[in-house]
Amino acid sequence: MGSGEVVNERRVQVSTIYGDRVRLRAVEHDDVKYFFEWVNDPEVTRGLAMYLPMSMSDEENWFASLAKRDQKEKPLAIEIRKGKTWKLIGDCGVFDFDAVNSCAELGILIGDKSEWNKGYGSEVMSLLVRHCFETLNLNRAFLRVYTDNIRAVRSYEKAGFILEGRLREAVYKFGKYDDVLIMSVLRSEWMSRKKEL
Ligand SMILES: CC(C)(COP(=O)(O)OP(=O)(O)OC[C@H]1O[C@@H](n2cnc3c(N)ncnc32)[C@H](O)[C@@H]1OP(=O)(O)O)[C@@H](O)C(=O)NCCC(=O)NCCS
Repeated sequence: MGSGEVVNERRVQVSTIYGDRVRLRAVEHDDVKYFFEWVNDPEVTRGLAMYLPMSMSDEENWFASLAKRDQKEKPLAIEIRKGKTWKLIGDCGVFDFDAVNSCAELGILIGDKSEWNKGYGSEVMSLLVRHCFETLNLNRAFLRVYTDNIRAVRSYEKAGFILEGRLREAVYKFGKYDDVLIMSVLRSEWMSRKKEL
């Protein structure tokens, strides 16, 4: 697994987003080999809009395309603290900004399955939501999730997302249609939640 020395913490502190147990940093070229492994794992991609195996050159092209991407839409690598080092476990991001309506969509992939169900997903989503409101000045952060991705739905609920709608039979996977849920957090909800914590 990829890791970075905690020694780097001071250097990256300005741009890195820190939580209690996770940090979100810029994606580096060294991460690509891990992403390649994860996007080819059917258990990981089950809940994602991915339908074909990805080649290493697909991943390299994706990484190269990030250089031209708007700064606020660049993906963030998810790392968890392991003793004195950091371990890469996935990536996340904010995309499809709608400037007029002050909203954007969020996404997450924890590719290291040994780290599922430990609360990292909900912590990452809470950090991304804070980033949306405190840094990107959004009013609404939303996401789409397949109905059968129960782990994801639960994780998003814990991060304060509220179910706002259901796109009926909007995705076809594994020989059947499934509903897609839309979940969101509004700035006003996040402000009240912050006061309660
Ligand atoms: C979805 C994902 C982000 C969730 O992150 P995570 O760190 O595993 O999730 P968390 O630990 O924060 O929360 C998971 C919750 O679901 C619960 N859960 C897991 N499987 C469950 C099941 N089959 N039934 C009911 N609850 C379940 C866990 O118990 C936990 O809830 P709890 O803390 O109340 O006990 C991560 O698993 C992932 O990236 N998966 C692969 C890619 C993906 O599906 N991305 C999302 C696309 S929308």
